[in-house]
Amino acid sequence: MTKLLIFAGSTRQNSFNRRLAHATADLARAAGADVTHLELSTLDIPLYNADLEATGTPPDVMRLKDIMDAHPAWIIVSPEYNGSYTGLLKNTIDWASSPVKGHPVWGGRDPFAGKVVGLLSASPGALGGLRSLSHLNPLLQNLQCWICPKQFALGRAGDAFDEQGALKSDAHRHSAQAVVDQVLWASARLHPV
Ligand SMILES: Cc1cc2nc3c(=O)[nH]c(=O)nc-3n(C[C@H](O)[C@H](O)[C@H](O)COP(=O)(O)O)c2cc1C
Repeated sequence: MTKLLIFAGSTRQNSFNRRLAHATADLARAAGADVTHLELSTLDIPLYNADLEATGTPPDVMRLKDIMDAHPAWIIVSPEYNGSYTGLLKNTIDWASSPVKGHPVWGGRDPFAGKVVGLLSASPGALGGLRSLSHLNPLLQNLQCWICPKQFALGRAGDAFDEQGALKSDAHRHSAQAVVDQVLWASARLHPV
C-alpha cells in the first residue's frame, strides 16, 4: 500500500483547493492508497526566519518534517495568487526543506529527494490556477522530487463541487484520478514496499 500525503496550500474555510484535496484523497483511498490528508491549519508554523531557526526548529515544523518523511508520495493542491503559488505553500516548503543540524533524517541537503509528487490546482478563474503549477514544478524539481507529468488545474471551481464536496463532473473526476494513478504507479516503482 502506497503511503500518500495530500495537502492544499490554503487554510481558508471554504477553500476550493482544500475541497479538491478532499475529493482527491477519496479517489486515492478508493485506488488502494494509505492516505494522510494534512490540513496545514493544524500546524503552528511561523514565517520562516533563519534567526528564529537558529534558536531551534519549531516543534510543528519537526512534526511536518516527520509526516513528510513518512510518505514517499505526495499530492499538493495549489491555489494561485498573482500568477503563482501561495505564500503559505512557499513558507511550508521552505521550513520543511531547510536542514536541521545534526538530525539523522533532516540534517542533509536534499530532504525531498526521491519523493513522488502529483500536482493539482483550483481557482474560480478559467485557467484553474495553472500558472501556480508552472512555478511549483521547477521549485520541486530543484528539491530533487519526481514530478508526475499528468497535472490537473480545476477551472471555474465555484461550480465544480456538490454539497458533499464531491466533484460533480466525470471529466473532472477522471482528470484528478489520472494524477492519482500516476503518483501511485511511480511510487510503487521508485519505492517498492
Ligand atoms: C492576492 C490574491 C491574488 C490572486 N491571484 C489570482 C490569480 O493570479 N489567478 C487566479 O486564478 N486566482 C487568483 N486569486 C483568486 C484565488 O484563486 C481565489 O481566492 C481562490 O479561492 C483561492 O484558493 P482557495 O479557494 O483554495 O483558498 C487571487 C486571490 C488573492 C487573494
